[in-house]
Amino acid sequence: MKFLGLNDFQFKDQRVLLRLDLNAPIKDGKVSNDERLVRSLPTINHILKNEGRLIVISHLGRPKENGEFQPDFSLFPVVKRLEHLLSRPINLITDINNIPSIERGEMIVLENVRFLEGEKSNDPGLSKKLANIADIFVMDAFATSHRAHSSTAGVIEFSEKACAGFLLEEEVSALSKLTLENKDKSLAVLGGAKISTKLNLINSLCDKMDTVILGGGIANTCLLAQGFSVGRSLVEDSMLKEALELSKKSNVIVPRTVVTAKMQEHEGSIKHIDQIEEDESIFDIAPDSFKELQDLFDAASTILWNGPMGLFEESAFAGGTNQVAKMIVSSKGFSVAGGGDTISAASKAGVLNELDYVSTAGGAFLEFIEGRKLPSLEALELKLAK
Ligand code: 3PG
Repeated sequence: MKFLGLNDFQFKDQRVLLRLDLNAPIKDGKVSNDERLVRSLPTINHILKNEGRLIVISHLGRPKENGEFQPDFSLFPVVKRLEHLLSRPINLITDINNIPSIERGEMIVLENVRFLEGEKSNDPGLSKKLANIADIFVMDAFATSHRAHSSTAGVIEFSEKACAGFLLEEEVSALSKLTLENKDKSLAVLGGAKISTKLNLINSLCDKMDTVILGGGIANTCLLAQGFSVGRSLVEDSMLKEALELSKKSNVIVPRTVVTAKMQEHEGSIKHIDQIEEDESIFDIAPDSFKELQDLFDAASTILWNGPMGLFEESAFAGGTNQVAKMIVSSKGFSVAGGGDTISAASKAGVLNELDYVSTAGGAFLEFIEGRKLPSLEALELKLAK
């Protein structure tokens, strides 16, 4: 996958529209995790250092797309955090029709693009309007690249000059190592609550990777499908047929020992999967569930990690996730984590900085790994071809 990049353009004096994914969690009016902001800084700094006139756009959450300002979805907390990270004052502009002039090497941020009518339907009128704001469009919102919206794929199509930012390039290059290269000795560790939302991903990984290890609610459903009694564990009854098919694949591994309890407030006990009582639930895999796989982890060339192995938010049920996290980072293989709760789980397990690559994306990460075409990446590829 090849795109034009930041180094293909001169930014001096140019108006630059930069699409970032600044969709960060907000708590009590403040950004509670600034990872996506921090990871966007290299692109912002490059454009400012090269004397571009920078206009940043992003979405935040899922507001009503009615052209109205909605305070709960304002980028104001994000701008405050960016001001701190960049040590400069930044204007937040609410009216896309009244964008002020910007000095060289200065930046402004436009309010949440999802307030704009036509954003999510990728309205050509809005896409053209966005394209006309600037001389160069830079797409660095990898985490939103799976959305065919006006501020992502649409604007690329109508911009005379468009390229990828550093973060998008970095994400594509790291994730491609998992999907395209090093198929030998590749390992996927997949957890999370629902098999239904990840079935396509799991099936595609079964084809692409040597070994696929399952945990969490996904594994519970597989165990039930295999005929084990799982008591009151979180399962998806509607997915038993698919779960059985999956469990039959020769490269799929499900745990044989788990941590159960009658209620999640209770202490857990380690049990073999044929000893689970009617009134119990599985809340974690047993920490040494996959101990015999240590050699497999050690020898792995690439490891993909998505989703916790259990209810990691409760310390009584974090042991399985923590152990698997340690096995992943102790491997010399190239390890990549991403999607949903994985970053919180990795952070809680204390391994976040030891992983080789941590994706900033959720849904886009899963779709990329699954091998689906992401509209914004396709649009960038087309720009290069033209
Ligand atoms: C994400 O958090 O995964 C991205 O910002 C995309 O958000 P969305 O699912 O609301 O499109």
